[in-house]
Amino acid sequence: MPIQEKCRILEHQQIAPHYFQLTLASAHVSANAKPGQFVQVRCSEKYDPLLHRPLSIHRISKKEKSFALLYEVVGKGTELLSQAKVGAELDVLGPLGNGFSIDKNIQTAILVGGGMGIAPLLSLVDKLKSENVKTIYALIGGKTKNSLLCVKDFKKLTAQVLLATDDGSCGEKGLVSDTLSNMLDKIQGTIYACGPRAMLKAVAKISAKNKLNCQVLMEARMACGIGTCLGCVIKTKAGYKKVCDDGPVFDSKEIIWQS
Ligand SMILES: Cc1cc2nc3c(=O)[nH]c(=O)nc-3n(C[C@H](O)[C@H](O)[C@H](O)COP(=O)(O)OP(=O)(O)OC[C@H]3O[C@@H](n4cnc5c(N)ncnc54)[C@H](O)[C@@H]3O)c2cc1C
Ligand code: FES
Repeated sequence: MPIQEKCRILEHQQIAPHYFQLTLASAHVSANAKPGQFVQVRCSEKYDPLLHRPLSIHRISKKEKSFALLYEVVGKGTELLSQAKVGAELDVLGPLGNGFSIDKNIQTAILVGGGMGIAPLLSLVDKLKSENVKTIYALIGGKTKNSLLCVKDFKKLTAQVLLATDDGSCGEKGLVSDTLSNMLDKIQGTIYACGPRAMLKAVAKISAKNKLNCQVLMEARMACGIGTCLGCVIKTKAGYKKVCDDGPVFDSKEIIWQS
């Protein structure tokens, strides 16, 4: 059940140009959040921008009663958020949405993250490990070496980390979906993906071709974040669905992929 609360900023650091990690105190979110869920954050006390911004839950610490967000500065809201100081409080609504599901019989999980899409995948690795999933692959893609985020963190949690960059500055040269396609010649598993829409579409196609289950975390512009404004709908085989409420995680087979 989501609640709206003031969360104190415990840590806030820039981890790369344009990218920030923010740790917030919340007994409620840390106790209740699932990987793949998100929170709506009010980025400043001002009325512009008025709306909260949706950000995925990046790490969850029940022990510390805190959770972390990882975000890229892309516009007014995230720019203002990047100026928030440790000790200040932010208005937060969450946890929201449905999160990734983990089937009891999963032996191998293959996580595919493109750019900022890796944000919800570290907490998913934590969860998969706690559920004793034997083998976890993390495939991380980005435009260049500098846009591959949290690689060290993934390597600490799982030995199977594969990297891909568009320009070949780190890992394989090419798209992370091609890395996935190549590895599926030898390895099968449940696929969890988050990243740009074009990447998700490619991953969904590859998963279908290989008859593998695939969950995708969809993003959409959001207003309310709780299923009332219908501002975030996407087309699925079962009609229009709300990303905030029915998602953001969907079975990739359900999505009607548009160009
Ligand atoms: C469920 C969910 C989880 C998300 N998790 C993260 C996360 O963990 N880290 C992160 O950095 N971002 C995440 N996002 C995206 C994030 O919400 C937006 O980047 C943010 O709202 C931008 O706010 P802004 O005021 O800075 O930019 P704005 O001024 O509102 O927009 C700046 C530019 O970004 C584009 N944009 C904004 N939001 C979206 C969107 N949802 N999809 C596509 N384009 C968009 C706008 O069209 C515009 O071109 C998530 C979005 C959703 C729906
Ligand atoms: S953002 Fe309002 S219904 Fe999804």
